[in-house]
Amino acid sequence: MRKLIVLLLCFYLGAFEEISTKKFPESFLFGAATAAYQIEGGWNEDGKGESMWDRFVHDDPSRVKDGQNGDIACDSYHKWQEDVELLTQLGVKLYRFSLSWPRILPDGTPRKVNQAGINYYRNLINALKQAGIEPMVTLYHWDLPQHLLELGGWLNSDIANYFGDYARIAFENFGDDVKLWATVNEPKTTCLSGYAYGEMAPGFTLPGDGVYKCAKVQLLAHAKAYHIYHAEFATKQKGRISLVIDASYNLPALNNDRDIFGAQREDEFTLGWFAHPVYLGDWPELMKTRIGNLSKQQGYSFSRLPEFNQEEINYINGTFDFFGLNTYTSNLITYIVDIDIGDPNYFTDKSTIPWQDSNWAPSNAPWLYSYPLGMRKLLNHVWNTYKPGSIYVTENGWATDGSLEDSSRISYLQNYMSNMLDAITEDGVNVVGYTTWSLMDNFEWAQGYTQKFGIIHVDFDSPNRTRTFKTSAYWYKNVVATRCLVE
Ligand code: NOJ
Repeated sequence: MRKLIVLLLCFYLGAFEEISTKKFPESFLFGAATAAYQIEGGWNEDGKGESMWDRFVHDDPSRVKDGQNGDIACDSYHKWQEDVELLTQLGVKLYRFSLSWPRILPDGTPRKVNQAGINYYRNLINALKQAGIEPMVTLYHWDLPQHLLELGGWLNSDIANYFGDYARIAFENFGDDVKLWATVNEPKTTCLSGYAYGEMAPGFTLPGDGVYKCAKVQLLAHAKAYHIYHAEFATKQKGRISLVIDASYNLPALNNDRDIFGAQREDEFTLGWFAHPVYLGDWPELMKTRIGNLSKQQGYSFSRLPEFNQEEINYINGTFDFFGLNTYTSNLITYIVDIDIGDPNYFTDKSTIPWQDSNWAPSNAPWLYSYPLGMRKLLNHVWNTYKPGSIYVTENGWATDGSLEDSSRISYLQNYMSNMLDAITEDGVNVVGYTTWSLMDNFEWAQGYTQKFGIIHVDFDSPNRTRTFKTSAYWYKNVVATRCLVE
């Protein structure tokens, strides 16, 4: 009935000038996203190995708000059937979730495969297929096997080879059913938060070149998985695989040359840091020059941005079948020049300050404000700069305190999706799918359970982790059913 009313509204209201309706193309895929450590729980069950997040939260609970952890999280390790049922009720046709590397390979290496882990994902994928929901599988969403951290983690290029071995096992086991693969999720965030700010696992605060080494190894890992897929599996399995990159739209704070240049520098140090090597080849020029010069002034005999040799450039360049874009917000960029060049870190390198306009609607996460036009602008920027052929918006969502009445999320999603649709229909950007973050409230990393991104509420006080549709879930269900946005 509800469906019918919205459908009628969609066609009928379009006739009135003050209310406009917009429709997504028939082929557009709507979905929702999650990640293993954030929802599964079962952290040490049935042969799963320890991940660096397990170790990080257990070693020192004060690292996470309220001393929380993902030991149980949404308990999706046991409640996956219910999750599929919720996806079915939403009517979505795409589910992005991640595999826990140590659930499949307890010590990260193919020395031992944990059959129970394979079975868990096999069952989930079968249930999704039966429900007519396309799985989009992320291979790495931040839960590195602890053993591999002990071998040097993302600072050791051997990890790229281990990632290749793990990816091959995933393709062998699931590739007949999984046609959309994401290799590494948000390498920028994990390198910065894990290797420079120390807020996320493994909690390092490395000065100098640590953060850039991490970036290089993650890019090599991504490329390794891409090449393995294309050399050994793609002909038969006919799927597609790419990196997932997080980016915000950057506007100059003032309309002057300095801030315009600052916004460009911010783009290249964030989005370009990973997108340039994959879509264009090599690091952005701006990064190379800036970090090279600073390194010299700081007394290094090498650039803190590790060079790619020609072979590596060629190996990474072109390793995409689409663009996986996570985007939540925009920034105003102020360019600063008077920075202490003696302090060798990422911030001095980029020499910009991102901030957000106090007129933009705030969410429950201090970094997330709503600037909907940024969605359209960013999609155009990605489309024109990187020419990826197609884009999936692999994450986009809003943080609240978790209440069931979440009108601020509806208005955010409505406005962001509307701008995404404008990018598709008005600007010709080929966005083919959208997986909102998140299907349900979950473990928000160092923020624990204080920032809720779900369109479905999870009661973390109940042993049953009861799931309940929020108002936004009903709203999204209608958009999915009608493909229509009523404004
Ligand atoms: C991006 C990350 O991929 C995801 O794990 C996180 O929960 C959301 N952003 C929200 O911060």
